[in-house]
Amino acid sequence: MRELTSPAGPARSVVRADGWCHASDVPSFVSPAIAPGSLSSTAQPVLSVGSVQLRPWTGDDASAVVAAYQEPAIQRWHARSMTTEEADEWITAAGAAWAAETGASWAIDHDGALAGRMTLTFHLADGFATAAYWIRAHARGRGIAPQALGMATDWVFSVGMHRVELEHSTMNAASCRVASKVGFDAEGTRRESVLHADGWHDMHVHAKIHDVQAPGP
Ligand SMILES: CC(C)(COP(=O)(O)OP(=O)(O)OC[C@H]1O[C@@H](n2cnc3c(N)ncnc32)[C@H](O)[C@@H]1OP(=O)(O)O)[C@@H](O)C(=O)NCCC(=O)NCCS
Repeated sequence: MRELTSPAGPARSVVRADGWCHASDVPSFVSPAIAPGSLSSTAQPVLSVGSVQLRPWTGDDASAVVAAYQEPAIQRWHARSMTTEEADEWITAAGAAWAAETGASWAIDHDGALAGRMTLTFHLADGFATAAYWIRAHARGRGIAPQALGMATDWVFSVGMHRVELEHSTMNAASCRVASKVGFDAEGTRRESVLHADGWHDMHVHAKIHDVQAPGP
């Protein structure tokens, strides 16, 4: 049977093998907020303010990551533990996410020692990122999470992102305070949207919008 073709070539199905039609497969009226390839063409940045530095993870961090996920508060709010093999995979996945432009994950060093984790998950076409973080018990209460969130947000705004959002359980007052200190406005509550070990949690949504100043007269 003769195959029907359009003048531009064979018609391309927009239904994938998984049975779904993905929005990215059909033409859009809107250009991507950040052009594909514009981030991964450079190395993941190292960001620092004072004694706090955000840097890409290395294989040497695996044992500290395992120790972090043994801490009760990190297990509670991130709903998992981590073996050494899982930590190795987690670190490899962080590098792969940068290469694929799906996110940036940084180790947070304070005074040269691993203090925490800051991750942005990218939605480049839509111009928004979601943030997640933890700080190890010995380093909490020193403003490290707000500094790290501020640095990551300033950087991602500088490369064209429009909005950064984060969510925390309504029971996690310390995380709510971090968001407020960095100027992430509260936008509302997603009711019973995340399942933790102790049941469903309501999640507070916070976001910060890149405030592009109009050029002066
Ligand atoms: C939440 C977390 C990232 C904060 O990091 P940090 O570097 O210690 O942040 P800060 O130094 O700014 O301290 C937290 C702020 O919350 C406040 N806070 C802490 N516990 C609080 C509580 N139970 N109720 C109200 N405020 C609280 C602190 O007083 C401080 O605010 P302040 O500077 O105005 O006094 C850290 O505690 C952590 O990693 N916790 C476990 C994992 C986690 O919750 N991850 C986030 C999941 S959304």
